[in-house]
Amino acid sequence: MNKNLIITGLPGAGKGTQAERIVETYNIPHISTGDMFRAAIKNQTALGLEAKAYMDQGNLVPDEVTNGIVKERLAEDDTKNGFLLDGFPRTMDQAQALEQIMVELDRKIDAVINIEVNTDVIKARLSGRVICRNCGATYHKLNHPPKVDGVCDRCGSTDLYQREDDKPETVENRIRVNQEQSQPIIKFYGDKGILHTVDGEIGIENVFTEIQNIIG
Ligand code: AP5
Ligand code: MG
Ligand code: ZN
Repeated sequence: MNKNLIITGLPGAGKGTQAERIVETYNIPHISTGDMFRAAIKNQTALGLEAKAYMDQGNLVPDEVTNGIVKERLAEDDTKNGFLLDGFPRTMDQAQALEQIMVELDRKIDAVINIEVNTDVIKARLSGRVICRNCGATYHKLNHPPKVDGVCDRCGSTDLYQREDDKPETVENRIRVNQEQSQPIIKFYGDKGILHTVDGEIGIENVFTEIQNIIG
């Protein structure tokens, strides 16, 4: 199939972890709205200042802001042979905006990969997550530690950090907000016949095998 892909699932489902593997294997760009907002915060842009207030509370950044950055990003040349959207769309307004963007670019979404994980597992995952500030690689203190303690496998950086919004109070709100919004989106793509749900609790490499079977 063509590779205009979406990866979705609750916070901590493993979207970013699988995205790292998918984009490397299929050589398509990884478009993560969360990563784009975190980069904007780091660079202290106007977008970053606006997004930070929402993200720190575990709330969604307003649709018009998010839709705007995705539209701009998808218009770039490197998306012509496919792309992987991670964490977008997250509301029905965003799903409708994406439909419109696809019409304008004369493309269509080929598959939506929905990773399912129960909320107790999510909480354990987010409390142990560490991320490389240099290259974005994602680890878990227990489930998936770097080979050398404190050193990124991929780029060798020692700047590994925990995300601000992974505090237990914020995680509760993130899960609630995302649960409320995700149901209609799952139905929307299910009705289109492009939704593929995978069990996200079977280990990182097993989940990736399932995803490769879907993408082909
Ligand atoms: P975003 O950055 O997208 O965060 P999220 O959706 O909350 O998801 P995460 O990145 O926390 O989890 P993940 O599914 O990528 O899991 P990971 O692979 O890291 O968004 C952050 C914020 O930005 C939002 O709250 C919102 O404010 C804003 N935002 C972003 N997009 C937006 C949008 N479209 N609209 C509005 N606002 C938006 O894995 C988690 C942990 O589990 C890791 O430690 C990993 O090692 C481990 N793990 C992964 N897979 C497995 C496995 N199979 N077995 C065992 N451990 C595993
Ligand atoms: Mg992520
Ligand atoms: Zn790294």
